Amino acid sequence: MKIGIAADHGGYELKKILHAFLVTSGYEVVDFGAYELNEQDDYPDYVVPLAQAIATKDVERGIAICGSGVGASVVANKVSGVRAALINDYFSAHQGVEDDNLNLLCLGGRITGYMAAEEYVQAFLNAKFTGLERHMRRLQKVHLLEK
Ligand code: RB5
Repeated sequence: MKIGIAADHGGYELKKILHAFLVTSGYEVVDFGAYELNEQDDYPDYVVPLAQAIATKDVERGIAICGSGVGASVVANKVSGVRAALINDYFSAHQGVEDDNLNLLCLGGRITGYMAAEEYVQAFLNAKFTGLERHMRRLQKVHLLEK
């Protein structure tokens, strides 16, 4: 599975940890930056290209990190075809995929510890959308807003 990852300065350190974790776990990783720590940078500059790559299916799923994870999820959900959520617990990391077909996991680099973040990423990447009728119906209502 090809996974995209992106972070601003608030998520820069956690991105480095998760990038290495993904490679060790056998995933192909596409890094959308930031490639160096710049305390003045802006999360849309990295998260939007990642979100667009998800929308065009250049990458299958993504991980976006800013300080809190809030800005990353707000901007990513502006891109049609992206279903992003800030995740702060294990259950939501997999249930978000199973029920809501989450394709972009957002994390707070200043909020979530490294080990918890790795567990959320693993749960997110191992999960599959169930495709149950009630979830398809709900997502259809979400997709109507994208038109
Ligand atoms: C940057 O200082 C911070 O605002 C940003 O990383 C993020 O937390 C926004 O939601």
